[in-house]
This record gives sequence, C-alpha cells and structure tokens, in this order.
Amino acid sequence: MRHLLSTQDLTADEAIGLLDEAERFEQALTGREVRKLPTLRGRTVMTVFYENSTRTRVSFEVAGKWMSADVINVSASSSSAGKGESLRDTAKTLHALGADALIVRHPASGAAHQIAAWTSGVTNGETTGPAIINAGDGTHEHPTQALLDALTLRQRLGSLKDRRVAIVGDVLHSRVARSNAHLLATLGAEVVLVAPETLLPVGVEDWPVVTSNSLDAELAAADAVMMLRVQAERMNGGFFPSAREYSVRFGLNDRRMALLADHAIVLHPGPMLRGMEIGYSVADSPRATVLEQVRNGVHVRMAVLFRLLVGTDSPGAQ
Ligand code: CP
Repeated sequence: MRHLLSTQDLTADEAIGLLDEAERFEQALTGREVRKLPTLRGRTVMTVFYENSTRTRVSFEVAGKWMSADVINVSASSSSAGKGESLRDTAKTLHALGADALIVRHPASGAAHQIAAWTSGVTNGETTGPAIINAGDGTHEHPTQALLDALTLRQRLGSLKDRRVAIVGDVLHSRVARSNAHLLATLGAEVVLVAPETLLPVGVEDWPVVTSNSLDAELAAADAVMMLRVQAERMNGGFFPSAREYSVRFGLNDRRMALLADHAIVLHPGPMLRGMEIGYSVADSPRATVLEQVRNGVHVRMAVLFRLLVGTDSPGAQ
C-alpha cells in the first residue's frame, strides 16, 4: 500500500489487517500514563485541509503525535492557497518541505488522486514521493471514515459477514456512503441505501448495494443503521425534498428506534444535525456509537499511517 485514496483499492485481507492493526494500537496504549509510542519518530506528517473538519483533522494529528511523528497542520484559509496558489504547487511545495505523508481534504472529487500523481516519481527504479491519504474528496470518498465505521461495527456486532447495514439519507452528496458501501461489501456485509430518489447518485446501480425509499420498511431487518448528515453546503441552495419532509421520512426518531432489533446499533459519522437526520434522544442513546466511532478513528488512523510509512509489522512486535 503506497497511498490510501479509496476503499475500492482495499482487499478484504488488507482491510481486516488495518482493523486488526488499529486494535493492536488501542491495546498498546491502554493503561499507559504517557500515550506516546516511538513508531514514527523522525517522520513528518502534514494535514492539508481545504474544507472544515473537527474529527478527521484532529484525530490524524492525535494519531501522528501518539506515534511520535512531527505533525504539521496546513489549512487552506491560512496558507498561500488564499493568495491563489494552485493545489498542484501547494502539494509539490509540501513535498519539497519534507512531508512523508500528506493527509488531504478537498472539495473536489479526485483531488487526493491528483496529488498522488503530482508528487510521485521514480528514482533508481524505486517509486518516491509522500504517502497520500484521502481525508475526504468532494462527494467521492472518505476511506478512513469507512474503516473506523467498520471497526465499530465489528466490535459491536462481531463479524460483518452477512450483517445488514442500512445507510440512510443524503447519499448523493456523501463520500462516507460510497466508501462504506464498497468497504462493507468487501467485508461481506449486505448494504441497503435508504434515500429519496432525488438524493441517490447517478450510477448507484453499479454499487454493491440494494436501494430503498422507505426507512420504516428497512429497520426491522437491519443490524446497523448509519445515518448520514444532510450536506446543505453541497446543495447550492436547492433541497428536495424539503428539510421538513426529509426529516419526517428519513429522520431516525424514537418511534423508528422502536422498530429496530434489540441488538441493532446506530452510527453517524458526525457532525450530526440533531433534529434533522437524527433525533436528540437517539443521538444520546446507548445504541448510538457516535463517540466510539470518534475514538476508533484515532486507532484506525494510527494503523493507516503505520502501514503506509513503516510497513506491515505489528506495533506489538516493536
Ligand atoms: N466525519 C467527519 O469527517 O467529520 P469531520 O468533518 O469533523 O472531520
């Protein structure tokens, strides 16, 4: 693995290996007074975010620091991007400044792939350039989110094989939905996308999923329900159905929670719009795994950085 750009690039063995690695990192840190491993000492990790973020940016920073990497955060608003520098020039500049890994969030789908192409080279027959990690590119993919979701599902439900996961809401604008649909299918789960027709993407028939327009009809058979944030910032002012109709038809409220099986859990990638796609009490219910997902995000991102920058040995062996 040189980069992590898409969950579609991961085999089942690679994905399970990353989840196992994440759990080894969690165990390696449990009970420690000082949460610091020497694993990435001397490595330089840069986060480059052109869109807002709390969870992803901070958890990559925590992951890098807990592994003793030098972590540098670059935000578009305070960088020379604000003076008109191109993404290509910024990426090549950060490479020249010594980045071993660039963690990129950008509103354009495909931005991380482009940066990987711009910063890769071949020296003496060896591929060179920083590892590129896609931290969310437009409406395309958010692979580390899907990995931390898969880890949370595995911890709560056991194996993902033949588990039924309903991904609900604004699939059209969701990079979380696409990354999860492909990763969960790779891991043997059944995925049903539950959304109004207007919020399903063109080409969804090629995804490894089934689709439904009725949340009520899907709840009883679901082992997990993953609620998506309504991405108003990508809707250019238009939202169909209306916010009220969306909430009534696709919001997870207390009445709908009662339709779930006893073992079923509720995921949300955050940030949540309480009262829109998820009810206040649902978000705080013991069946909601929102903060477990956040915590797993640090360990998953440690595993990804480790795999890309060091290789495949487990931290337990160090
Ligand atoms: N889930 C997620 O990507 O959250 P942030 O936008 O806060 O990083």
